[in-house]
Amino acid sequence: MKTIFNRTTIRKYSNREVSDTLLKELLSKAELTPTMGNLQLYSVIATRNSEMKQKLAPTHFNQPMVENAAVVLTFCADFNRTTVWANNRKGTPGYDNFLSFLNAATDALLYCQTFTNLAEAEGLGTCFLGTTIYNPKQIIDLLKLPKLVMPVATLTIGWPDETPTQPDRLPLESILHEETYTDYTAESIDQYYKVKESLEENKHFVEINKTETLAQIYTDIRYKKSDNEAISTGLLETLKQQGFL
Ligand SMILES: Cc1cc2nc3c(=O)[nH]c(=O)nc-3n(C[C@H](O)[C@H](O)[C@H](O)COP(=O)(O)O)c2cc1C
Repeated sequence: MKTIFNRTTIRKYSNREVSDTLLKELLSKAELTPTMGNLQLYSVIATRNSEMKQKLAPTHFNQPMVENAAVVLTFCADFNRTTVWANNRKGTPGYDNFLSFLNAATDALLYCQTFTNLAEAEGLGTCFLGTTIYNPKQIIDLLKLPKLVMPVATLTIGWPDETPTQPDRLPLESILHEETYTDYTAESIDQYYKVKESLEENKHFVEINKTETLAQIYTDIRYKKSDNEAISTGLLETLKQQGFL
């Protein structure tokens, strides 16, 4: 059985169907996730239609999981439903601001993670796509998201067709600060990143990317300052367009 201890991201799926009954059962159970004021400030768009998956794929930089997965779920921070409810009940909603986006995004991401845990326990494979917030405008158009709805995460789901080895994690002492934050020193960084940097696959990564260090693969290739700044500009524009700024 899959648990948090043996889980991994799954990017290759078999052709086996993911039934609507199972999907709805898991999405329904995940509703028990805590949310702000129990308002459930999220919505999820389920994509099964292959034409639609084809259209979504470029927004995720054509990562093959989007077209190969049985189901693609787009999790959205949603203050629209609550706002419509309040307007229809003599309320005066004030959720067109950044705080409300953060609250709704928190609800949506927690809901997404609970769903992931339940799906993995059922034996399903999932892949979280952070690219959702890289190209949100296109996703909004394709999924017809109204104001006060913002896509924040995508999960591709299917029955696994691979068994990847579990990636490493940093030691607990590197992330846990007791009582107050202890800032990192050159020595503690050496100690905490020693295992990661000595893994054969990471050494190979450095070799093929022709960088000097593993960190440079992240800073100079995968998640570059210039890309981060350009994506941030688009993200802020989209939050404005959706009425959250
Ligand atoms: C914010 C975030 C963004 C991610 N984006 C992607 C992505 O775009 N493509 C992908 O294949 N995996 C993506 N992942 C999955 C990570 O690569 C994966 O969780 C990580 O490498 C650890 O591997 P594991 O989940 O197998 O333990 C993302 C995960 C998170 C939390």
